Amino acid sequence: MNIILASAEVAPFAKTGGLADMALSFPVEWKKFGQNPIVILPKYGSIDVYKWNIRPTDITINVPMGYWTEYGHVWYGKLPNSDVPIYFIENADYFNRDGIYGNPDEYHDNDRRFIFFSRAVFEAAKALNFKPDIIHAHDYHTAFTMAFLKSHYRNDPMFDNTAGIYTIHNLAYQGWFNPQRALDFASFGSNDFYPGSWFEMNGAVNAMKTGIMFADKITTVSPTYSAEIRTQGLGEGLHDVLNSKGPELIGVLNGAYYKEWSPEVDTQISLKYSENNLDHKRINKNRFLNEHNMGEWNHLETPLVGMVTRLTDQKGIDLLMELLEDNLYHNRFRFTLLGSGESRYVDYFNYLAWKYPGRALIHMGYNNTIAHKIIASSDFLIVPSRFEPCGLTQMYALKYGTIPIVRQTGGLADTVFEYDYENQTGNGFSFLKYSVEDCAFALNRAMDIYSNEPHWAKIRQNAMRCDFSSARSAMEYLKVFNWALEKLRGI
Ligand code: ADP
Ligand code: GLC
Repeated sequence: MNIILASAEVAPFAKTGGLADMALSFPVEWKKFGQNPIVILPKYGSIDVYKWNIRPTDITINVPMGYWTEYGHVWYGKLPNSDVPIYFIENADYFNRDGIYGNPDEYHDNDRRFIFFSRAVFEAAKALNFKPDIIHAHDYHTAFTMAFLKSHYRNDPMFDNTAGIYTIHNLAYQGWFNPQRALDFASFGSNDFYPGSWFEMNGAVNAMKTGIMFADKITTVSPTYSAEIRTQGLGEGLHDVLNSKGPELIGVLNGAYYKEWSPEVDTQISLKYSENNLDHKRINKNRFLNEHNMGEWNHLETPLVGMVTRLTDQKGIDLLMELLEDNLYHNRFRFTLLGSGESRYVDYFNYLAWKYPGRALIHMGYNNTIAHKIIASSDFLIVPSRFEPCGLTQMYALKYGTIPIVRQTGGLADTVFEYDYENQTGNGFSFLKYSVEDCAFALNRAMDIYSNEPHWAKIRQNAMRCDFSSARSAMEYLKVFNWALEKLRGI
């Protein structure tokens, strides 16, 4: 199968969250299964072309944008440690800026930037003479590829047999565009826009809805989230739209790319380890603690609770703000966090670090090495999300024998199961109600097991033996692609 994966983020080139991790691992796995994927990403100014050996090609594409045409230069590289080609679309006006979506606020012309990119995907495929069986788009940024596939390129011999798959990673970011601008940029007429049309939501163009409506199949990143978003509570206003697609909306659990996220091969941590030499995990923890200024409070055996996260409302930080201080004050655990995002949270964690030196170990900003170190060195990882489409850090944590404490929602509910003392089953701790009391109770249960052998050994073993690999996930996607092709081609 020829597959084009188009995404606004692909690790390690451009990443703010889990979307980038998945856009890297899917094509690498598909290639191993004998498929023929290529990846297309904007060439952001922040991408280090020397570090990743990215080179210009001699291809310049003309990208129709309404009544005029804009250019894009195509650059070429490979996904690290693989043979998968990745093409970068360069247009300095759009992409040679700080950050991916804005810095810190969203760029006001993200409608135009991502409509341009979505259209460039088709022109790049033509210039590369790559006839895709599948175009796989991700989140609102590339949603317009689904509309283009079924309209401007429908009768183009390069795409007339191509199925469009749209994956929702996070329904909270929908891409609300001004209709006049967006439809002009995307070369649709005003008669394509009316109440209830495939582009329209509350009088605006909604890119997320557009992707959902035009796709042959829609997937989202966990079975539980696929059920949750069909309800008013978590549907972010699009539950009716999603329900109208019936069984075309499929939940496929994401997977972890164990080549990067596994303690046996991780080159970013102090000492590699496995289930059989957890001493090394302890050494990692001690080194991590020693790298921080622990002051007088150097009790190395105190449990370490970690978190690696975007600092947004989604992630349940408000719950932690109600209970961390009391726990740190009473020395129940140490807390370490790596995060970036909203300033109200940044301010809070800076305060915590100031008030509890040696107990609250806080890193603000984005740093992949520290992310690996926290996940490997902590005893527990907390993910108390308000909602969580899938969540990857808890899957990574499991592999590192770092016990997750999570709210039972979305993909967290599909991957973390409460430890049962009697049967010695389960890999973590979870709570259902979004409340400080329930979160605190789960944390207490987690602290209780820490020095309670043989259960501490058992839960870590259960965790490390979980297999949530991206290979399994990528294989599921191939099934979805085949269903879409069967439907499209009437096989
Ligand atoms: P989301 O996509 O909602 O942010 P996920 O759990 O799916 O949540 O994925 C988060 C990914 O981003 C993980 O790979 C995690 O390690 C990484 N990450 C999050 N915040 C940071 C940060 N500040 N620095 C480095 N990596 C981060
Ligand atoms: C989104 C979601 C996260 C998911 C990730 C990758 O950013 O917030 O839960 O794991 O996408 O699909």
